[in-house]
Amino acid sequence: MTFFHELPPRIALIGFMGCGKTSIGKRLASLSGRPFADLDAEIEGSCGLKIVDIFRDRGESSFRELEAETLTAITEDHADLVLSCGGGIVLSRSNRDFLRENYLTVWIDVPFDELMKRLAGERTDRPLLHSGDYAEKARALFLARRPLYEETASLHHRWSGGGTAEDEALAVLKGIGES
Ligand code: S3P
Repeated sequence: MTFFHELPPRIALIGFMGCGKTSIGKRLASLSGRPFADLDAEIEGSCGLKIVDIFRDRGESSFRELEAETLTAITEDHADLVLSCGGGIVLSRSNRDFLRENYLTVWIDVPFDELMKRLAGERTDRPLLHSGDYAEKARALFLARRPLYEETASLHHRWSGGGTAEDEALAVLKGIGES
C-alpha cells in the first residue's frame, strides 16, 4: 500500500465524460488527506454561470479559455491537490504540458459502452452531447481523445468493472504506488 506522504503533492484525474473523475477524485482526496477540486465547478463558481450556459452564451472557445485560466489559477493556489478535470482539458497542447509538469496525471479509462450507459441520463449537463446524434458524436470524441489522454497521463487506470468509487480510488492509489 502506498504511504500517503510519498504520493506526489498534486494528482489530476483526466478521462472522458462520465468516467467517474469527480466521484473517484473525492475519495482519493479524502484517502490521501489532500483537498479536492473539480475544475468545472471552479469555473462555474468564478463566472456564476453553469457550464451549459457558458457554452450557449459564449461558445466553446470561451469555455476553453476559462478552463485553461482556471487550471493555472487553482494550481498556483494549491501545493497539494486532487483535481478532477473536464473531459476536454487535453485538447490544448499547453494544458497537456501544464498537467505533465505540475501533476501526477491519472487517466480513468472506462469502455465506451459503459460510458454511454452512464451518460444516457446526464446529457442535459453536457453541452457536447445535446444533439440528436449524440452517441455518434460521443464515439468520435472518445476515439479522437484517447491518444491525448494517453499522452498526458503518467498512470493509465483501467476501470476494474462494477466496483464503487472507493474501490476505484484505492486501485488508483495502488497504481501510483507501483508506478
Ligand atoms: C467536456 C466535459 C465536461 C465539461 C464540458 C466539456 C468535454 O466535463 O468540461 O461539458 O469537452 O469533454 P466532464 O468530463 O466532467 O463531464
